[in-house]
Amino acid sequence: MRSLPFTDAFLLPKGVYLDGNSLGPLSYAAQAAVERRMRQWHVHGVGAWDDWFGLAERLSPAIGRLVGAHADEVVATASITVNLHALLATFHRPEGRRRHLLATELDFPTDVHALQSWAELRGVEVRLVPSRDGHTLEDADLDAALTDEVAFAWLPTVLYRSGQALDVARWTRVGRERGALVGWDAAHSIGALPHAFHEWGVDVAAWCSYKYLNGGPGAPGGLFVHRRHHDAVPALRGWWGHDKASQFAMEPTFAKAAGAGAFQLGTPPILSLAGLEGALALFEETPIETVRARSLELTDALIARVDAVLPELTLVTPRAYERRGGHVALRHPEAAQLSKALRRRGVIPDFRRPDVLRLAPVAFYTTDADLDRAVAVLRELLDSGAHREEPLDGPIG
Ligand SMILES: Cc1ncc(COP(=O)(O)O)c(C=O)c1O
Repeated sequence: MRSLPFTDAFLLPKGVYLDGNSLGPLSYAAQAAVERRMRQWHVHGVGAWDDWFGLAERLSPAIGRLVGAHADEVVATASITVNLHALLATFHRPEGRRRHLLATELDFPTDVHALQSWAELRGVEVRLVPSRDGHTLEDADLDAALTDEVAFAWLPTVLYRSGQALDVARWTRVGRERGALVGWDAAHSIGALPHAFHEWGVDVAAWCSYKYLNGGPGAPGGLFVHRRHHDAVPALRGWWGHDKASQFAMEPTFAKAAGAGAFQLGTPPILSLAGLEGALALFEETPIETVRARSLELTDALIARVDAVLPELTLVTPRAYERRGGHVALRHPEAAQLSKALRRRGVIPDFRRPDVLRLAPVAFYTTDADLDRAVAVLRELLDSGAHREEPLDGPIG
């Protein structure tokens, strides 16, 4: 076990990188893993499949540790959008009055698009838990929305804009008690927070690997299917979800793989999977609880600096540890221009419309000096107004 941060393990972009909740940086381990897979391609050509076959499944123990699952409950595959479609196709089973889908007003749009697709196909509604302030969700509203008319509830573990963390164990229990299947989008918690999906009784979940896992742009995400659902035959099938032992018998009948692997569809992108393979090795060097503890220290330190020297910015991320994810969201009417001006000065934040600046100090590579620098640049911009020279339109750089 090594102590954090592992700054020398990453090839960080120049400056202060605070956007690892959008795209995690390249690690030497990910680079080496991709180069190794490229070498195999070069040297062995198609023969490299002898090693690549089953690569996704070989990552399952490490991924299982990150989400608190048995290895056969997870698989690295596809994107959140694709995995959500696959999960909805199989696990949304409208029956009688229990037929509708539940999401939240604050979800990342792709989740709602996927839910809406299945709602239209199946003649049901997508109901959205309302947000009172446009940034966070209230327990009372979640409670009220989880009615006995919900067949499948799909919730975010951590809200992508505000960074509010939901109580996964609680809402899974409540939803299941009321007869719904409960699934989670763990994009903003995997690699940042510990999970116990199996123990909490979560039905299904999906995540991406390009944020806190640092798997690389478009790296395969993953999905979780609780063991109690392992009898379910995927409604969307492909040959990569076939039982591995007989996949190459090339029979037209589908003999499903045991466990979550059955939800894979087609050939995995080996080079992208290699990025994830390398990146996961860093998580084997430190327990996720340690990563979370350091992340909380960093977000505490950032929030304290904002309180002390940046009163113009309004914190929208909850302060309570159990409601705080891995990033800090700050509102300012000129957030778009501040984001561009920060980038120009070597501090990489990100911006989410209409007025939120997200700063993600990450346990693996962010230092206290990085926070000092980011806060100092923000203070200087707010004092000088120099950010107002940034164009209001065009890409948010
Ligand atoms: C919460 C959440 N869900 C889904 C996505 C994107 O899904 P996909 O991996 O299918 O592109 C993102 C991307 O940032 C996200 O933040």
